[in-house]
Amino acid sequence: MATVDPVLRVDGLTLAFGGVKALNGVGFEVMPGSITTVIGPNGAGKTSLFNTISGFYRPVAGRVEFEGQDITRLPAPQRARLGLARSFQNIALFRGMSVLDNIKLGRHCQLKTNIFQSLFYLGAARREEMELRADIEARIIDFLEIDHIRHAPVASLSYGLQKRVEMARALAMQPRVLMLDEPVAGMNREETEDMARFILDVNAEWGVTVLMVEHDMGLVMDLSDHVVVLNFGQVIAQGKPQEVQSNPEVVRAYLGSGDVSELRERLRTGRARASGAAADNGLQPGASAGGGTPPLSEVA
Ligand SMILES: Nc1ncnc2c1ncn2[C@@H]1O[C@H](COP(=O)(O)OP(=O)(O)O)[C@@H](O)[C@H]1O
Ligand SMILES: [Mg+2]
Repeated sequence: MATVDPVLRVDGLTLAFGGVKALNGVGFEVMPGSITTVIGPNGAGKTSLFNTISGFYRPVAGRVEFEGQDITRLPAPQRARLGLARSFQNIALFRGMSVLDNIKLGRHCQLKTNIFQSLFYLGAARREEMELRADIEARIIDFLEIDHIRHAPVASLSYGLQKRVEMARALAMQPRVLMLDEPVAGMNREETEDMARFILDVNAEWGVTVLMVEHDMGLVMDLSDHVVVLNFGQVIAQGKPQEVQSNPEVVRAYLGSGDVSELRERLRTGRARASGAAADNGLQPGASAGGGTPPLSEVA
């Protein structure tokens, strides 16, 4: 069997906040073309992991490799330029600016001329600006079905649409790996289904590798090729979704030593119900509770 190199590899990643180790020797690989999902209870270290991989946090130990290159010490914008783009758990858009302008800001990290020059439409900057606009309009806006809101200020949009715009901005960076931190958190069922379809299409049709953090177990089970489970800053299990869902340590991490039959059922069916203990453990938060994600055949 031919061996394929991982597009992203983290090894021994350790991050401390004061005395607290948010990450403690985290290691896993993301294969090119895959949808890899990081799950784990609230406080497990998922967002810290994302921030460390994308360069917002500096680890005290360990290594991040992107396409074979050690990027552990590279500043965040340079990682983005290499092809590592991300969205945020809490939306980080310029709320007063239009959808289009927000998306263009994502693309600007790829341009030779800087944003201030191109704002003045001078020479090469102007040509780049026009190409940029055409590229964005033709591909991303169309793909994400946000044509009708391109001139709307972000602040006027629903939460689900804002999440979609954030994805558009990340895609405008033409990433090879797209990192999504809780892409469907706070979304209703319809928005969740739309986002699931976009993630699948970005992966399948555009060939973008996806690394995401997600709580919605239906989505995780339907979309993921590979699941990495974090608990207390450590990888406690990883593998195919089916392998992970039957791993006793994973079940324990979510529910302590209590009754796990309900969690098993939910993981198996991918259908979630808002119910006390599991919700408190961050398994199924917010608006997606009760809906879950249907099989992909229904989504597509
Ligand atoms: N900026 C920070 N300063 C101090 N502690 C933090 C910070 N960010 C996260 N932590 C701590 O690190 C741990 C992991 O948090 P986080 O990565 O947000 O988990 P998750 O995204 O899995 O819910 C938690 O104990 C959290 O309190
Ligand atoms: Mg988080």
